[in-house]
Amino acid sequence: MNVQWYPGHMTKAKRQMQEDIKLIDLIIELVDARVPLSSRNPDIDELGKNKSRLILLNKADLADERQNEAWKAFFQEKGFFVVKVDSRSGSGMKAIQNVIQEACKEKIERDRRRGIKNRPIRAMVAGIPNVGKSTFINTFAGKACTKTGNKPGVTKGKQWIRLNKGVELLDTPGILWPKFEDREVGIRLACVGSVKDDILNMEELSLNLIGFLREKYPGALKGRYGIEEEGSNVNLLEGIARARGCLKKGEELDYAKTAGILFEDFRSGRLGRITLEWV
Ligand code: G4P
Repeated sequence: MNVQWYPGHMTKAKRQMQEDIKLIDLIIELVDARVPLSSRNPDIDELGKNKSRLILLNKADLADERQNEAWKAFFQEKGFFVVKVDSRSGSGMKAIQNVIQEACKEKIERDRRRGIKNRPIRAMVAGIPNVGKSTFINTFAGKACTKTGNKPGVTKGKQWIRLNKGVELLDTPGILWPKFEDREVGIRLACVGSVKDDILNMEELSLNLIGFLREKYPGALKGRYGIEEEGSNVNLLEGIARARGCLKKGEELDYAKTAGILFEDFRSGRLGRITLEWV
């Protein structure tokens, strides 16, 4: 299975981000907590090499809490600041304000030495499509912010959202693409719904997911569908099809429909909190 994905936009988005990065102190990089490595862009470390770095494990509500903690430690060890967040509910937002100050301590100190007072920290949200950038910006900025217009010294057309406590956020997120050459990366991103379903073979993908779940989260499929987790992955898919009455005309099982149900259950958390990529 080969996963392909809007390649035409990639160069433009990257160039845009290169320009925007010149204006900021801090990169707030969103990754999907269920696939923290696969949802990272390999260029971002190079692009942001002189900037303070904060990684948000977004969609932490859908991921396994033990793995969330393990990934947090993993990235912290590499020198990143890390916060687990659920951008939809707003959980984790409070912690971010303090972590931003901590992450930009050197910049604040440098300003102080030069006699510059209250220059806001400028931050940009970055990440691959569908990781939750817009949701995060909306939730984090909330109502307690104002959009600032074009100001002298700011590139024309840039919109900044002024947050509390001396932080300004660029209102357009930096979009980057994951590493698609790696087949496993493509499969993981497809499972979490970050690749359009219509270009994928969902039935094949569902067998991948079933194989992973029965190994790492035994009981999850039984708990949801009441099926025994025995036999081949195809046997389990058949079991789910029967349990959910996915039949075509006659007695033939409808695997496409079954795969659709499985992925909807997985992506919405109804199979439990599941991390596909383990530390
Ligand atoms: P993007 O700007 O990076 O492309 O992502 P966007 O904010 O559009 O979010 C993509 C999807 O992920 C949205 O769902 C959004 O609600 C969901 N999402 C974002 N952050 C979180 C999170 O922390 N937890 C959970 N559970 N979901 C999150 P959607 O299905 O595309 O839209 P909708 O049904 O929510 O309207």
